[in-house]
Amino acid sequence: MSFSSADRMPDPRESVLRERREDATTTFTARTPAIYQEEIRMHPDAAAWADRTPGAPASLFLTGAIGVGKTHTAWQAARIWLGRRFDETHRMPAIETWRSTALFDALRPDRENDAKALTRTLQLADLLFVDDLAAARVSPTGWTQERLYEIFDERYINRRPVLITCDVLPHEISHIVGDRVSSRLGEMCRGGVLLLKGADRRKGGAA
Ligand SMILES: Nc1ncnc2c1ncn2[C@@H]1O[C@H](COP(=O)(O)OP(=O)(O)OP(=O)(O)O)[C@@H](O)[C@H]1O
Ligand SMILES: [Mg+2]
Repeated sequence: MSFSSADRMPDPRESVLRERREDATTTFTARTPAIYQEEIRMHPDAAAWADRTPGAPASLFLTGAIGVGKTHTAWQAARIWLGRRFDETHRMPAIETWRSTALFDALRPDRENDAKALTRTLQLADLLFVDDLAAARVSPTGWTQERLYEIFDERYINRRPVLITCDVLPHEISHIVGDRVSSRLGEMCRGGVLLLKGADRRKGGAA
């Protein structure tokens, strides 16, 4: 049996794409907090979202009590999502990752110019991941809520996905993000609200 040289030659385009995909994942892993770089066993619905399985919702809203694994699940899901998205578009997807409290702080009126530039960035990112959306003890001001409205409305009307972790449901965060954002999140995450159950894993002993 003979082989032509074409059988053995790796497709140069394929290896360039593989390298670029690995670079994209490595870059994202490098900015993932150390604790969340560890592989975990993910809930199958989170895995389906991350894999961009046909029929899976575009956005994911991870909810549940303190310490059940919402943030860890979100980082791992985002990492896998990035690789899948790269395979579809052959370019590095822009994933914006924010703790809600830092986001509200960055969107304050005394930072108007930066806040407006950030608003645009967050409107356009391929994926917006906001961790612990209900964590703020003091609700953002009306001005900040307006920026949030601009961000989430733009994503909503263009069907751009969001990845949210939150210890309460979308309709329970109106007092933090405003009624309009809360309503849009409810629709964007319809079918994609995933309740993680179990004990606080930080206390140990949880499966
Ligand atoms: N599937 C899992 N398997 C094993 N350990 C996990 C898993 N998910 C999370 N953990 C670990 O459990 C701890 C709590 O996880 P995480 O920070 O994601 O919880 P959380 O739900 O976001 O909590 P909080 O509401 O306080 O933000 C972390 O140490 C994390 O690494
Ligand atoms: Mg968390």
